[in-house]
Amino acid sequence: MDEFILGIETSCDDTSAAVLEGTIIRSNVTATQDVHRDFGGVVPELASRAHQQNIIPVIDTALKKAKIQKNQLAAVAFTQGPGLLGSLLVGASFSKSFALALGIPLIEVDHMQAHILAHFIEEPQKKIPNPSFPFLCLTVSGGHTQLVLVRDYFDMEVIGQTIDDAAGETFDKAAKILGLAYPGGPIIDELAQNGDPERFLFARPNVPKLDYSFSGLKTSILYFIRDELKKDPDFIKKNRSDLCASIQATIVDILMGKLRNAVQQISDPRYVMREGQMPDPRSRIPDPGSRIVNVAIAGGVSANSALRNALMEAKEKEDWNIFIPPFEYTTDNAAMIAVAGHFKFLKRDFARQSTVPYARSKR
Ligand code: KG4
Ligand code: ZN
Repeated sequence: MDEFILGIETSCDDTSAAVLEGTIIRSNVTATQDVHRDFGGVVPELASRAHQQNIIPVIDTALKKAKIQKNQLAAVAFTQGPGLLGSLLVGASFSKSFALALGIPLIEVDHMQAHILAHFIEEPQKKIPNPSFPFLCLTVSGGHTQLVLVRDYFDMEVIGQTIDDAAGETFDKAAKILGLAYPGGPIIDELAQNGDPERFLFARPNVPKLDYSFSGLKTSILYFIRDELKKDPDFIKKNRSDLCASIQATIVDILMGKLRNAVQQISDPRYVMREGQMPDPRSRIPDPGSRIVNVAIAGGVSANSALRNALMEAKEKEDWNIFIPPFEYTTDNAAMIAVAGHFKFLKRDFARQSTVPYARSKR
């Protein structure tokens, strides 16, 4: 029997706790905070207060659903960062005291690494295919947009990232311009189902290398809507679905463009292997000259249906092996923290009681 690990995630506005037995999920409980809805974004002070209220009931429910007692836990894994400091402190402080009281190890987990490691969560009844190393992961969330070359569980290299806004943030800001609620990504996704993605054209960034930029697109949406509203105050109302579909298509197109470039770069096995490193026998990257590559997506925006469709098309056209995590492990959740905790547990990579959270990415 594998060890039970409790994962705790409080980096933003979701209070989540999960129990994993090895890599197998036993429970994953999340309390989302509705208090931010009217503010068009997360209010940090309200988020940390809500975490304080939610954390004990959420953990209690996660243990009950997993049908285990707290003294059966082998370790507590928590999100150390990046995220909102006030929110992270609630999870970190609770985890430290809980681990100390139970006399079990404490494990610190990087939220962005955990989004990627969500691909290794297993379900008792369902076989979820997981990517073999090395693979390329497009991590797209509310705060990050990164192209990450994943050589091993904790050997990850960011080979491209946004120089300004994140993709999720762009969805959320566009939604705000359209008068939609927060978080706007899922709402745009839904409204876009009935819209024409080619109806409106927006600015595309021109950024070198594998980096992304979304601030120009955001400004282009803002100015376009402002000008159209001057001509017709009902412009948004009349064109809501087409606007959502066109904005979504632009974001997905930008994401896919750099992803394609990145795949081309890493298809060269000399790029993937470091000097003196032996090829990983589990790697599906084939002989030089061949272009099949393992491509994964992670983070909240990977729930987007247009992005998922674009990837499935690329799977056929470009001959990629595609890995899309189950819906519930894409947005913030503690199961991904627990699975990252499991791999650190195997390495006996434990944290000290003096550990502190960090707001910005260390990588
Ligand atoms: O990973 P996540 O839950 O939290 C962060 O770490 O940021 O990502 C949240 C982001 C939000 O910006 C939200 O609008 C976006 O993911 N999102 C989506 C969809 N579902 C969530 N964006 C587009 N389409 C979706 N279906
Ligand atoms: Zn996240």
